[in-house]
Amino acid sequence: MTKRAKPLIVGNWKMNPATLSRAEKIVVDIQKGLHGRVGASEIVIAPPLPYVSDLKELAGAQKISFAAQDVSFAESGAYTGEVGISMLRSIGIKMVIVGHSERREGSETDEMVKAKLDRVIGNKLTAILCVGEKERDRFGDYFTTIESQLTAALADVSAQDLKHLVVAYEPVWAIGTGENATPEQAEEMRLFIHKVLSDMYGRAGSEMVKIVYGGSVHDDNAADLLKIGHVDGFLIGGASLDAKEFASIIKISDQYAKFA
Ligand code: 13P
Repeated sequence: MTKRAKPLIVGNWKMNPATLSRAEKIVVDIQKGLHGRVGASEIVIAPPLPYVSDLKELAGAQKISFAAQDVSFAESGAYTGEVGISMLRSIGIKMVIVGHSERREGSETDEMVKAKLDRVIGNKLTAILCVGEKERDRFGDYFTTIESQLTAALADVSAQDLKHLVVAYEPVWAIGTGENATPEQAEEMRLFIHKVLSDMYGRAGSEMVKIVYGGSVHDDNAADLLKIGHVDGFLIGGASLDAKEFASIIKISDQYAKFA
Protein backbone atom coordinates (compact mmCIF):
# COMPACT_ATOMS: atom_id res chain seq x y z
CA MET A 1 0.00 0.00 0.00
CA THR A 2 1.20 3.44 -0.72
CA LYS A 3 1.41 5.98 2.05
CA ARG A 4 -1.55 7.86 0.64
CA ALA A 5 -3.94 4.94 0.94
CA LYS A 6 -6.77 5.63 3.35
CA PRO A 7 -5.65 4.37 6.78
CA LEU A 8 -7.81 1.68 8.32
CA ILE A 9 -8.49 2.02 12.05
CA VAL A 10 -10.19 -1.00 13.60
CA GLY A 11 -11.26 -1.20 17.24
CA ASN A 12 -11.39 -4.78 18.51
CA TRP A 13 -13.51 -4.62 21.64
CA LYS A 14 -13.00 -8.32 22.40
CA MET A 15 -15.50 -9.42 25.12
CA ASN A 16 -16.17 -5.87 26.32
CA PRO A 17 -18.07 -3.88 27.57
CA ALA A 18 -20.45 -5.87 29.76
CA THR A 19 -23.70 -4.18 28.73
CA LEU A 20 -25.34 -2.76 25.61
CA SER A 21 -25.88 0.61 27.26
CA ARG A 22 -22.15 0.95 27.94
CA ALA A 23 -21.40 -0.04 24.36
CA GLU A 24 -23.82 2.60 23.10
CA LYS A 25 -22.18 5.23 25.27
CA ILE A 26 -18.76 4.45 23.79
CA VAL A 27 -20.07 4.88 20.24
CA VAL A 28 -21.89 8.11 21.10
CA ASP A 29 -18.74 9.45 22.77
CA ILE A 30 -16.58 8.47 19.79
CA GLN A 31 -18.97 10.40 17.54
CA LYS A 32 -18.69 13.42 19.83
CA GLY A 33 -14.91 13.13 19.95
CA LEU A 34 -14.75 13.13 16.16
CA HIS A 35 -17.14 16.02 15.65
CA GLY A 36 -15.94 18.37 12.93
CA ARG A 37 -13.17 16.13 11.69
CA VAL A 38 -12.41 15.98 8.01
CA GLY A 39 -12.24 12.24 7.90
CA ALA A 40 -9.56 10.57 5.89
CA SER A 41 -9.37 7.31 7.83
CA GLU A 42 -11.76 4.41 7.56
CA ILE A 43 -13.22 3.61 10.99
CA VAL A 44 -14.35 0.12 11.92
CA ILE A 45 -15.45 -1.28 15.27
CA ALA A 46 -15.58 -5.00 16.06
CA PRO A 47 -17.91 -5.13 19.09
CA PRO A 48 -19.42 -8.26 20.63
CA LEU A 49 -21.96 -9.43 18.03
CA PRO A 50 -25.12 -9.04 20.16
CA TYR A 51 -24.53 -5.27 20.13
CA VAL A 52 -24.03 -4.72 16.42
CA SER A 53 -27.59 -4.00 15.29
CA ASP A 54 -28.18 -1.42 18.03
CA LEU A 55 -24.80 0.23 17.56
CA LYS A 56 -25.39 0.56 13.83
CA GLU A 57 -28.31 2.87 14.59
CA LEU A 58 -25.92 5.25 16.36
CA ALA A 59 -23.08 5.19 13.93
CA GLY A 60 -24.25 7.55 11.21
CA ALA A 61 -22.38 10.83 11.14
CA GLN A 62 -18.82 9.52 11.19
CA LYS A 63 -19.54 6.55 8.95
CA ILE A 64 -18.35 3.96 11.41
CA SER A 65 -18.74 0.45 10.05
CA PHE A 66 -18.74 -2.84 11.90
CA ALA A 67 -16.66 -5.98 11.87
CA ALA A 68 -17.03 -9.37 13.51
CA GLN A 69 -14.31 -10.78 15.75
CA ASP A 70 -14.67 -14.30 14.34
CA VAL A 71 -16.82 -16.48 12.07
CA SER A 72 -17.61 -20.15 11.80
CA PHE A 73 -15.66 -22.21 9.27
CA ALA A 74 -19.02 -23.82 8.31
CA GLU A 75 -21.72 -22.19 6.17
CA SER A 76 -24.64 -23.36 8.32
CA GLY A 77 -25.95 -26.41 10.17
CA ALA A 78 -25.60 -28.22 13.48
CA TYR A 79 -22.87 -26.09 15.09
CA THR A 80 -24.29 -24.89 18.40
CA GLY A 81 -23.02 -21.48 19.39
CA GLU A 82 -21.39 -20.69 16.05
CA VAL A 83 -22.22 -17.75 13.78
CA GLY A 84 -22.06 -18.13 10.01
CA ILE A 85 -20.82 -15.73 7.39
CA SER A 86 -24.21 -15.18 5.74
CA MET A 87 -25.64 -14.22 9.15
CA LEU A 88 -22.90 -11.63 9.54
CA ARG A 89 -23.49 -10.28 6.06
CA SER A 90 -27.22 -10.04 6.66
CA ILE A 91 -26.70 -7.68 9.62
CA GLY A 92 -24.40 -5.41 7.64
CA ILE A 93 -20.99 -6.69 8.73
CA LYS A 94 -18.32 -5.82 6.16
CA MET A 95 -15.17 -7.22 7.75
CA VAL A 96 -14.24 -10.21 9.85
CA ILE A 97 -11.17 -10.65 12.05
CA VAL A 98 -9.69 -14.08 11.42
CA GLY A 99 -7.01 -15.91 13.41
CA HIS A 100 -6.64 -13.51 16.32
CA SER A 101 -3.93 -14.82 18.64
CA GLU A 102 -6.42 -15.11 21.50
CA ARG A 103 -8.34 -17.61 19.36
CA ARG A 104 -5.22 -19.36 18.10
CA GLU A 105 -4.22 -19.74 21.77
CA GLY A 106 -7.61 -21.31 22.44
CA SER A 107 -6.80 -24.14 19.99
CA GLU A 108 -7.60 -22.54 16.63
CA THR A 109 -5.21 -24.21 14.17
CA ASP A 110 -3.76 -22.85 10.92
CA GLU A 111 -6.21 -25.13 9.07
CA MET A 112 -9.18 -23.62 10.88
CA VAL A 113 -7.91 -20.11 10.29
CA LYS A 114 -7.60 -20.92 6.61
CA ALA A 115 -11.12 -22.39 6.42
CA LYS A 116 -12.51 -19.23 8.05
CA LEU A 117 -10.51 -16.95 5.78
CA ASP A 118 -11.82 -18.81 2.71
CA ARG A 119 -15.36 -18.45 4.03
CA VAL A 120 -14.97 -14.68 4.45
CA ILE A 121 -13.21 -14.02 1.16
CA GLY A 122 -15.46 -16.44 -0.73
CA ASN A 123 -18.44 -14.36 0.41
CA LYS A 124 -16.71 -11.14 -0.67
CA LEU A 125 -16.36 -9.71 2.81
CA THR A 126 -12.96 -8.43 3.93
CA ALA A 127 -10.87 -10.69 6.13
CA ILE A 128 -8.49 -9.12 8.62
CA LEU A 129 -5.98 -11.93 8.95
CA CYS A 130 -3.99 -11.71 12.20
CA VAL A 131 -0.43 -12.98 12.29
CA GLY A 132 2.16 -12.56 15.01
CA GLU A 133 4.91 -14.26 16.91
CA LYS A 134 4.63 -15.17 20.59
CA GLU A 135 8.08 -13.90 21.40
CA ARG A 136 11.18 -12.51 19.74
CA ASP A 137 14.36 -14.53 19.77
CA ARG A 138 17.69 -13.16 18.66
CA PHE A 139 17.93 -15.61 15.75
CA GLY A 140 14.95 -14.07 13.99
CA ASP A 141 12.83 -17.23 14.04
CA TYR A 142 9.79 -15.02 14.33
CA PHE A 143 10.05 -14.29 10.62
CA THR A 144 9.49 -17.99 9.93
CA THR A 145 6.42 -17.95 12.17
CA ILE A 146 4.90 -15.05 10.26
CA GLU A 147 5.72 -16.59 6.90
CA SER A 148 4.16 -19.92 7.78
CA GLN A 149 1.01 -18.31 9.22
CA LEU A 150 0.63 -16.31 6.00
CA THR A 151 1.31 -19.12 3.56
CA ALA A 152 -0.96 -21.54 5.45
CA ALA A 153 -3.87 -19.09 5.47
CA LEU A 154 -3.42 -17.92 1.88
CA ALA A 155 -2.85 -21.25 0.14
CA ASP A 156 -5.25 -21.37 -2.85
CA VAL A 157 -6.33 -17.74 -2.37
CA SER A 158 -6.18 -16.13 -5.81
CA ALA A 159 -4.60 -12.77 -6.63
CA GLN A 160 -8.04 -11.34 -7.50
CA ASP A 161 -9.22 -12.14 -3.99
CA LEU A 162 -6.49 -10.07 -2.37
CA LYS A 163 -8.78 -7.06 -2.59
CA HIS A 164 -10.71 -8.75 0.24
CA LEU A 165 -7.67 -9.12 2.48
CA VAL A 166 -6.07 -7.02 5.21
CA VAL A 167 -3.13 -8.43 7.17
CA ALA A 168 -2.82 -7.40 10.83
CA TYR A 169 0.62 -7.84 12.31
CA GLU A 170 -0.04 -8.38 16.01
CA PRO A 171 2.97 -9.64 17.93
CA VAL A 172 1.52 -11.57 20.87
CA TRP A 173 4.05 -10.09 23.28
CA ALA A 174 2.70 -6.61 22.52
CA ILE A 175 -0.99 -7.37 23.04
CA GLY A 176 -2.37 -5.81 26.19
CA THR A 177 1.12 -5.50 27.69
CA GLY A 178 1.80 -1.80 27.18
CA GLU A 179 4.94 -2.80 25.25
CA ASN A 180 4.28 -1.98 21.60
CA ALA A 181 6.51 -3.03 18.72
CA THR A 182 8.79 -0.11 17.93
CA PRO A 183 8.04 1.76 14.71
CA GLU A 184 11.24 0.23 13.29
CA GLN A 185 10.12 -3.30 14.20
CA ALA A 186 6.71 -2.62 12.67
CA GLU A 187 8.34 -1.26 9.50
CA GLU A 188 10.65 -4.27 9.22
CA MET A 189 7.75 -6.69 9.58
CA ARG A 190 5.59 -4.74 7.16
CA LEU A 191 8.34 -5.05 4.54
CA PHE A 192 8.73 -8.74 5.31
CA ILE A 193 4.99 -9.40 4.95
CA HIS A 194 5.03 -7.54 1.62
CA LYS A 195 7.94 -9.71 0.52
CA VAL A 196 6.09 -12.92 1.39
CA LEU A 197 3.02 -11.65 -0.48
CA SER A 198 5.17 -10.55 -3.44
CA ASP A 199 6.74 -14.00 -3.64
CA MET A 200 3.26 -15.51 -3.76
CA TYR A 201 1.44 -12.97 -5.94
CA GLY A 202 3.96 -10.58 -7.44
CA ARG A 203 4.46 -6.99 -6.45
CA ALA A 204 1.17 -5.69 -7.83
CA GLY A 205 -0.75 -8.29 -5.81
CA SER A 206 1.18 -7.52 -2.65
CA GLU A 207 0.52 -3.80 -2.97
CA MET A 208 -3.24 -4.39 -2.95
CA VAL A 209 -3.06 -5.58 0.65
CA LYS A 210 -3.23 -3.21 3.60
CA ILE A 211 -0.96 -4.14 6.47
CA VAL A 212 -2.07 -2.81 9.83
CA TYR A 213 -0.39 -3.08 13.20
CA GLY A 214 -1.90 -4.15 16.52
CA GLY A 215 -0.46 -4.45 20.04
CA SER A 216 -0.57 -1.70 22.68
CA VAL A 217 -1.43 1.06 20.21
CA HIS A 218 -2.18 4.29 22.06
CA ASP A 219 -2.45 7.97 21.27
CA ASP A 220 1.19 8.48 22.27
CA ASN A 221 2.70 5.94 19.84
CA ALA A 222 0.24 6.01 16.93
CA ALA A 223 1.90 8.88 15.05
CA ASP A 224 5.35 7.25 15.00
CA LEU A 225 3.95 3.86 14.05
CA LEU A 226 2.33 5.53 11.04
CA LYS A 227 5.16 7.89 10.11
CA ILE A 228 8.14 5.63 10.74
CA GLY A 229 6.48 2.22 10.68
CA HIS A 230 4.50 3.14 7.53
CA VAL A 231 1.71 0.78 8.54
CA ASP A 232 -1.65 1.26 6.81
CA GLY A 233 -3.56 1.56 10.06
CA PHE A 234 -4.20 -0.20 13.34
CA LEU A 235 -6.07 -3.00 15.05
CA ILE A 236 -6.64 -1.59 18.51
CA GLY A 237 -7.76 -3.44 21.63
CA GLY A 238 -7.79 -1.64 24.99
CA ALA A 239 -7.56 1.92 23.65
CA SER A 240 -10.58 1.38 21.39
CA LEU A 241 -12.82 1.05 24.47
CA ASP A 242 -11.78 4.50 25.62
CA ALA A 243 -13.82 6.76 23.35
CA LYS A 244 -11.60 9.79 23.89
CA GLU A 245 -8.39 7.95 23.14
CA PHE A 246 -9.85 6.08 20.16
CA ALA A 247 -11.07 9.37 18.68
CA SER A 248 -7.68 10.89 19.28
CA ILE A 249 -5.92 8.02 17.44
CA ILE A 250 -8.34 8.45 14.53
CA LYS A 251 -7.53 12.15 14.33
CA ILE A 252 -3.79 11.40 14.39
CA SER A 253 -4.33 9.01 11.54
CA ASP A 254 -6.44 11.57 9.62
CA GLN A 255 -3.62 14.10 9.94
CA TYR A 256 -1.06 11.57 8.77
CA ALA A 257 -3.16 10.65 5.75
CA LYS A 258 -3.58 14.30 4.87
CA PHE A 259 0.09 15.20 4.98
CA ALA A 260 1.79 11.93 4.01
P1 13P B 1 -4.25 -4.07 22.74
O1 13P B 1 -4.39 -2.84 21.87
O2 13P B 1 -5.08 -4.01 23.97
O3 13P B 1 -2.81 -4.40 22.99
O4 13P B 1 -4.86 -5.29 21.89
C1 13P B 1 -4.45 -5.50 20.59
C2 13P B 1 -5.34 -6.52 19.97
O5 13P B 1 -5.32 -7.68 20.34
C3 13P B 1 -6.24 -6.07 18.90
O6 13P B 1 -6.77 -7.14 18.19
